[in-house]
Amino acid sequence: MPILDAVEMASSEEHVMAVLNSIPRYVELFHISFPDDDEPVTFKNTGIAIGSFERTLLTYSPFDSFIKGDTKALGKDELKGLEIFINSGCIACHVRETLGGQTFARFITPHEQSGEAEPDPGRFNFTGLEDDRHFFKVPSLLNVTETFPYFHDGSEWSLANAVREVGLSQLGIELTGEEVEYLVCFMHALSGEASPFARELPVLPPSGPGTPRPVFD
Ligand code: HEC
Repeated sequence: MPILDAVEMASSEEHVMAVLNSIPRYVELFHISFPDDDEPVTFKNTGIAIGSFERTLLTYSPFDSFIKGDTKALGKDELKGLEIFINSGCIACHVRETLGGQTFARFITPHEQSGEAEPDPGRFNFTGLEDDRHFFKVPSLLNVTETFPYFHDGSEWSLANAVREVGLSQLGIELTGEEVEYLVCFMHALSGEASPFARELPVLPPSGPGTPRPVFD
């Protein structure tokens, strides 16, 4: 959990509980959210609450409806793109309902290949294993139309070019202009809106008199 992780918030369970219990509005909100618990301000419930909040950040795309069984959720061109996505082998790496995020693959961007920048060692920096040199996480393609620039060095701003490039470097195929267009069309069906609730700036309750102050060491 990021709260406890040494390289993230580096806090302790006791500290988190002390802070939450010292802020009257949080205690009230825990009672409202977990009405069956006598003592609702627990670390476990904190995790449940954070999980519920994070799920509001998920987007829902036409592709999500499609894999849930609504075969009409994708239009003709999007279906054609999906077919190319499957048949040309993109699904070897971009798998499951997130279309990626589970595995690593080797990739050197055209920008790095051109010699303008040193190729990033990627996963090698973390594992020290020679076999991991230039390996990167296969990214999820959900909302990919919104997340340019692409690749680990952010060197590609066009989705069409990114698709053409991975076709060449990951699959050794030269996609035609038409295939690239259909693939990009399919990728638009992977984008969805976040709920308006998730975009609201949360108004945080004020600290109480006993709220621990920050310590500097
Ligand atoms: C061998 C595994 C593999 C295959 C096959 C593969 N990809 Fe990828 N793809 C990757 C990796 C790894 C990256 C991330 C590279 C990086 O971070 O620099 C990537 C990145 C991408 C990106 C850029 C996403 C971003 O956020 O930067 C797109 C778009 C993409 N792939 C689409 C496709 C399409 C379309 C196909 C089929 C034509 C395909 N990929 C085939 C491994 C693969």
